Amino acid sequence: MERTYLMVKPDGVQRGLVGQIISRFEQRGYKIVGLKMMQISREVAEKHYGEHVGKPFFQGLVDFITSGPVVAMVVEGKDVVSAAREMMGATNPLKAAPGTIRATFGVDVGRNVIHGSDSLESAQREIALFFRPEELVDYGRAIDSWIY
Ligand code: PPS
Repeated sequence: MERTYLMVKPDGVQRGLVGQIISRFEQRGYKIVGLKMMQISREVAEKHYGEHVGKPFFQGLVDFITSGPVVAMVVEGKDVVSAAREMMGATNPLKAAPGTIRATFGVDVGRNVIHGSDSLESAQREIALFFRPEELVDYGRAIDSWIY
């Protein structure tokens, strides 16, 4: 099973969308194995978005992600890295497919309510950046045999 890192961004928290966003992943059948609210420091934000250093939106992105609390989670399931990206929709909510999280809740590229790892490698790096190993919980669910 794969694990991915997902984060409800400050706009999603301020707008009261946390529950609805988490529900989408639960309802699909994915398992939450880590979950917490936190305020990200600039240092961690710059590390997290390190691959975008130098891009025109970098400072704005760091300002935004550190502007209020976020809800960080680690979600587990079959092919969850790519599946979560599909459920989120395109970076620009105006280009996101109908029904996706960003198309449903967002209108602006800088306020797109959720972050999700873009590859298995990014997921491993981001999970390690935001969660200590003991914060992740291994557990089985009776419904797993009905999902898989
Ligand atoms: S790139 O250049 O294609 O790799 O960028 P992309 O993957 O589309 O976006 C990387 C992250 O930057 C955010 N982003 C922006 N934020 C604010 N303003 C603008 N214009 C902007 N463009 C991109 C985008 O949401 C990505 O953040 P995450 O948290 O990964 O969604």
